[in-house]
Amino acid sequence: MRVVCISAECEPWAKTGGLGDVVDALARAVAAIGESEPPNSTVEHVVQSQVWLGTGGVMGQAPGGVMAHVERPVDVFLPLYRGVPVPEGATRTPMVVPDPLAPEGVTEVHLVEFDARGYRVRLIDHPPAFDRDGYYGDDDGDYADNGWRFGLLCRAALEALLDDDRPVDVLHLHDWQAMPAVLLRDVAYAGYPRISGAAVMVTIHNLAYQGWLSREQLAGLAAPDEIAQLVKPLTDGLLLLREGVKRAELVNTVSPGYAAEVLTPAFGMGMEKLLAGLGHRFGGILNGLDTAVWDPATDEALPAHYSRGDLTGKAECRRALLTEVGFDADDERAVLGMIGRLDPQKGFDLLAAAAKDVLVEGGRIVVLGTGDAKLTADLRTLAKKRPDAVAVIERFDRALARRVYAGSDLYLMPSRFEPCGQGQMIALRYGTPAIVHRTGGLADTVVDADASPNEGTGFVFDAPKPAALRDACGRAMSHFHAGGLAWAELQDRGMAIDWSWEAGPADQYAASYRRAVSLRKER
Ligand code: GLC
Repeated sequence: MRVVCISAECEPWAKTGGLGDVVDALARAVAAIGESEPPNSTVEHVVQSQVWLGTGGVMGQAPGGVMAHVERPVDVFLPLYRGVPVPEGATRTPMVVPDPLAPEGVTEVHLVEFDARGYRVRLIDHPPAFDRDGYYGDDDGDYADNGWRFGLLCRAALEALLDDDRPVDVLHLHDWQAMPAVLLRDVAYAGYPRISGAAVMVTIHNLAYQGWLSREQLAGLAAPDEIAQLVKPLTDGLLLLREGVKRAELVNTVSPGYAAEVLTPAFGMGMEKLLAGLGHRFGGILNGLDTAVWDPATDEALPAHYSRGDLTGKAECRRALLTEVGFDADDERAVLGMIGRLDPQKGFDLLAAAAKDVLVEGGRIVVLGTGDAKLTADLRTLAKKRPDAVAVIERFDRALARRVYAGSDLYLMPSRFEPCGQGQMIALRYGTPAIVHRTGGLADTVVDADASPNEGTGFVFDAPKPAALRDACGRAMSHFHAGGLAWAELQDRGMAIDWSWEAGPADQYAASYRRAVSLRKER
């Protein structure tokens, strides 16, 4: 099977969030299938990592699941944004791509290609579209011509695939920016079996972003006759994600928990009926974690290393972190870390509201992130009042993030909704039990230590309210302050989990690709 990913992000070339990490790790992991060792047999703690909607609306295990062979190289198409590091030795080929806005109907772009990290990166270079300050927009909001920009990305990808030696079997499209590829497959490329024969798998990383295009903006994506096939007359425009989902062979989101939640009006963002109507063609596959990149035994950002069974290095990381943020390093009381985009989705406002009580109970808080101005101001005020107990570091700092995961005693992730989330997995792997809201991927990955004393890996609360977060922090801190064997076991259970792509998700995607191919044949 030849698999091609199209995405707006892929680490380390272009990343603003979890999408970039996942596309990179997934491309590497599926390309390695058949060449890697069998999954690690030391897994002691199994998480429910895959679920598909069964008949009658019941979530069940995926049908099939036999290992499928994925051919190398796996391709990843990405825009060449400003600042993308292109390695020496990359090839650069001019290409003519249909463009509904160009006077001649075509635009010249360049395809910049290189092999890296086990897959092939194929960058679409067209400075008017991608050489800008932001990937998706600027201070004034989303770029008005995103339909044209990401339409051009997808057209260029499909044109490149038409010219390749081998036809593509599966187009794996991530989030709304890649949806033009399936729309175009079905209209502009319907007469080209090399493209129209390809199965499409759509992965939704966050349903909150659906890519609205007005009719006017749609004119940048498709020619008038194509638009007529894409939208009914009289409609104002379309949501790219919605239309892509309608046309895909298979659709998944990034955890079983979120897959179940988005079938309800509270989380479905208007797409709940459409997704439920897909039946067994919709499901959830839990993201993996790159366990080589995230490993406290080798992490170069840490002042000391440690691993399961010997946590002496973690104590050193804790002292170093407390010194770095200006806290008393000899104080034994709990340190709660939190990292991320400061926005209400991530629940930073809940923390701001619960923080005073956490401080009263002796806790200290380290926040690393940037974002929402009001939230930032609230947290900053707290830090000013209690510099001994609240540190707010307003920047994007990968190395410090690693030190926060390692040096904290507890990790906070009170997101209102969370398709999968990565921080909680990293924290557990770094021996830092997580405090999470019972939602989406957080609910799938963290087990409450009070409800399940022999299986717990953290602390889970039900309502996204400051009081519920405060109670969970209270429970967590009293376990931490009690310490002893129970605490060591709690940490150890989290560290024992094998989150790697090889342990599950890579095979689940490969099996899904096979299903997508056979579904395409049936159509
Ligand atoms: C999005 C989601 C996050 C998920 C990531 C990768 O950023 O918000 O929950 O982990 O995509 O799939």
